[in-house]
Amino acid sequence: MFEEIRDRFSEDLKSVQSLQELNNLKVKYLGKKGIITAQLKSLSTLSPSERQVVGKLINNIKLFIENEIASKELFLKDAELQNLLKAEYIDITLPGKYTSYGSEHPLNIVLNEVIDIFIRMGFNVEEGPEVELDYYNFEALNIPKDHPARDMQDTFYISEDIILRTHTSPVQIRGMLKRKPPVRFIAPGKVYRCDADISHTPMFHQVEGLMIDENITFSNLKGILVAFIHMMFGEEIPVRFRPSFFPFTEPSAEVDMGCILCKGTGCRVCKQSGWLEILGAGMVHPAVLENVGYDTEKYNGFAFGMGIERIAMLKYQIDDIRLFFENDIRFLRQF
Ligand code: DAH
Repeated sequence: MFEEIRDRFSEDLKSVQSLQELNNLKVKYLGKKGIITAQLKSLSTLSPSERQVVGKLINNIKLFIENEIASKELFLKDAELQNLLKAEYIDITLPGKYTSYGSEHPLNIVLNEVIDIFIRMGFNVEEGPEVELDYYNFEALNIPKDHPARDMQDTFYISEDIILRTHTSPVQIRGMLKRKPPVRFIAPGKVYRCDADISHTPMFHQVEGLMIDENITFSNLKGILVAFIHMMFGEEIPVRFRPSFFPFTEPSAEVDMGCILCKGTGCRVCKQSGWLEILGAGMVHPAVLENVGYDTEKYNGFAFGMGIERIAMLKYQIDDIRLFFENDIRFLRQF
């Protein structure tokens, strides 16, 4: 009879595949209502001498079953671990996934270089809105109603008095209205003009500069701009100022630097002149200072403005401005 239990158990154990099944088997034999437990309980019905013999036999089987279950448990746990290791296998010798790095856009590289140079010379950075009032963009800058820049062909009008700013110069007005002189800031940002060809895009970037104080002279303007060009392009670059006209400066100048491509001997980029125009500048017109309520007897100053795309095109020898905005990864990767 006990032999039978033992054989049945061994048979049962063979078919056990999982820890769950093993536990069921354990309950079946050793649980409160298990086969072995029932046998142990029935001992009380036997005589003391029988009890000793039968009890020993049952205990032996019980021990046998416990041992078998314990070793099967070890076996199953190990098998489970092996399965898990197989399922979660990571081949650490495989090459990693390639992540490509972005890089700074060439216009931002140049823009930040310009900003850094002027910060080192003590200028603050001022910002203004791209959607601007006609008043700040034109009127306050002494640009008369019939000025060609005000034409619908050149300016994006949103309404009669609201436009997309055509230059960063309106930030001069906003910056001066915000504070009392002396002021010294640059204003980098996007500007918009209704224009598109190989050297013009409807949106482009400018950096404006403004310095107002007592006794500012044209030599201060020259000093700052020559220093800027030398820091940007190199100490050896010659710089020249040509008389020009802007409604908001008097006198006005256009600033040229020696052609960095041909070193002044003449090439296609400088149109054989040896010079490249890179800046507009001048002494701030008293009418502009009056418009912001500055005392023109006491204060004067200079302003300048430059196009970032043009500088970047010269620096990196790019001959089509549209390349900056096409987002062609082959172009952008080169910087
Ligand atoms: N605002 C001018 C333009 O967009 C550039 C310019 C010229 C700005 C002379 C200045 C300046 O501040 O003094 O063409």
